[in-house]
Amino acid sequence: MGQKRLLVAGNWKMNGLRADAELMAEGLASRCHAMGNVAVDIALFPPATLLDYMARALDDTPIVIGGQDCHRSEKGAFTGDVSAWMLRDVGASHVLLGHSERRAGHAESSAQVKDKAQAAQAAGLVAIICVGENSSERDRGETLAVVRRQVQESLPAGATYANTIIAYEPVWAIGSGQVPSTEEIVNVHGEIRRLLVKATGDDAGATRILYGGSVKPSNAAEILGLGDVDGALVGGASLILDDFWAIVTAAVR
Ligand code: 13P
Repeated sequence: MGQKRLLVAGNWKMNGLRADAELMAEGLASRCHAMGNVAVDIALFPPATLLDYMARALDDTPIVIGGQDCHRSEKGAFTGDVSAWMLRDVGASHVLLGHSERRAGHAESSAQVKDKAQAAQAAGLVAIICVGENSSERDRGETLAVVRRQVQESLPAGATYANTIIAYEPVWAIGSGQVPSTEEIVNVHGEIRRLLVKATGDDAGATRILYGGSVKPSNAAEILGLGDVDGALVGGASLILDDFWAIVTAAVR
């Protein structure tokens, strides 16, 4: 298999109204058309309220759409939840799972993330499973142990390069403007790759590992050039068209 295309994914979190989505979709569509052959994969994760609009508005672009979470079940009495099948039905191809804001704010365990990833697989979605240590775990030197445990406990059976992506997002780097050193990123991504070799064998080399946490136009090229970094998961900067596009262009190989 040749060199993987990089993936730049924008996580809007709980941000964005219809007018924001219209501006972003128009801007991204015209930039994609102007670029012609877009040699990078692009995914956007708007809030659930904007998925249908975004899927339609970006239909004739290479940009794909995903949900920010899903329930483990296909349907049922789960007020407020959205299933993987519903995401698929509305035009999503991906889903973020186990984001630290879900793990912290909704007490999601890795076992629950694994169940959700299984549902995503069954619904035909690509799961982006997020892992990462918080600042006190980092201070105690537990980064690799935490990441190892989260990957091992969150990765579902049947994970392949085609249905699973791992995103390493150190919690302390999210929204803080702080990023790990390049050496730290390479170390953690290398460890995740080794875990994938154990879990998925031949697929491990082709499985994408994204870095997330304060990725900006100013640091994107450096981070995206590191070994075992196969793309970026971008929060704040994905809300600003020019910044997001600068990160996309930094990922073109
Ligand atoms: P920031 O890019 O705003 O640090 O957010 C990262 C993130 O959490 C993406 O999922």
